[in-house]
Amino acid sequence: MTKRLWDKGNALDTEVHRFTVGLDHVFDQRLAVFDAVASAAHARMLNRIGVLESKECSSLLSELQKIAEESRAGEFSISPDLEDCHTAIEMRLTETLGEAGKKIHTGRSRNDQVLVALRLFLREELLGHLELLEDLVSVLTEKAKQELVTPLPGYTHMQRAMPTTAATQILSYAEWSQALVHDGLSLLHSLNWNPLGVGSGFGVPLELDRDYTSKLLSFEQTQPNPIFVQSTRGREELKFLNWLTDISSLIEKSALDLLLFSTQEFGFVSIPVEFTTGSSIMPQKRNPDVLELLRAQASRVRAMRDELQGILAKLPSSYHRDLQYAKEPLFRCTDEVRRAVTIFTAVFPKLSFNRERALEMFEGELFATDEAFRLVALGEPFRDAYLHAAEKLKNGEIPVAELTEAFLAREKVRCEKELLELELRRTSIAKVIAGVRDAHASVCRDIFKEP
Ligand code: ARG
Repeated sequence: MTKRLWDKGNALDTEVHRFTVGLDHVFDQRLAVFDAVASAAHARMLNRIGVLESKECSSLLSELQKIAEESRAGEFSISPDLEDCHTAIEMRLTETLGEAGKKIHTGRSRNDQVLVALRLFLREELLGHLELLEDLVSVLTEKAKQELVTPLPGYTHMQRAMPTTAATQILSYAEWSQALVHDGLSLLHSLNWNPLGVGSGFGVPLELDRDYTSKLLSFEQTQPNPIFVQSTRGREELKFLNWLTDISSLIEKSALDLLLFSTQEFGFVSIPVEFTTGSSIMPQKRNPDVLELLRAQASRVRAMRDELQGILAKLPSSYHRDLQYAKEPLFRCTDEVRRAVTIFTAVFPKLSFNRERALEMFEGELFATDEAFRLVALGEPFRDAYLHAAEKLKNGEIPVAELTEAFLAREKVRCEKELLELELRRTSIAKVIAGVRDAHASVCRDIFKEP
């Protein structure tokens, strides 16, 4: 077994070692690139405060760059003997660079190392999800534009309520997606603070320039309290998972609507054949499995969020090894939601809305409320108009054709205004996101360059 960094010669039970490492060395392959980036910032800061000579710093930066590239290519493997990416990287630096490698850990602990690596990972994942959501918003708004006067019955309690349009329904998903972009951006700001430099969780007896590290890594602030820093292990991940849960809820609700509307009984939506699957026994079947799996993934995501919340519950302040398990739900959840949003964005534009079938539902009962308001416009007090409209419905006297025409024209105008507002918000927020994306990309690229 390779000697661990903290090994001072006491034997460790092999089974206990295997158990405590678990799958951490596998999960950490994803974190290694961010550990390399943060280690480069740490090395540059150590050089600035005189702990590392410039030559030592340069050699560290170029080796760390190689590690980052290997990690991005999936080629940085971590032996279970070494526990995690932090140890594996320090070991590699020490083996290849000698003295400089032995100095890199000055003023830090794996506890703040893993925190900063996770923070950078979250920033990158969030930016990735924001890009997917921005694509989703544009796919949905394009689809809504094509369905501006496509009728759709509106239901409450799953009973016919009032007329609506396919565009209004689609724009409800678009607005939710855009609200998620807004929430994601505030989340991005709220977790963009630097935990590195608090060591194990109580500060270090060395004058570190933590603000310099924050600047190098493009963090908006330095987290001051070392104990609170440790309390944010898992907390930021949980905020991210709550946001991912909301994304899943949007997809779940949309999938449910589409599953219902695409049944033979409703028939308002058709799913193209290439997105359906067959039955091994019933020759006629075309099943909407893709929507069903999208519906189910929301439950899986909630379960992962709950798993993380459970791991964090009832821990006293400071670092505890329990926290290592927080990585698994984080990684699985972000991957799951990425796949779901991607497939939903691919499927949605291919759905077709069946105008004729929906129009069949545009009968008197769907327009009872519209009729009451038409009577109000003619001077009747609302409560009288309400009863009058009920009476007319009973007698089959609701002017359906006239009301349908007025409704579709009115709703088209409303949707066009909504589309315009969505577009205005989309362009202004896209600029802010692009700014953070550029800053993050240049940190990951330029941090290894000569200071
Ligand atoms: N792999 C560990 C984790 O994810 C890193 C920190 C280990 N720190 C320690 N004191 N054992 O939590």
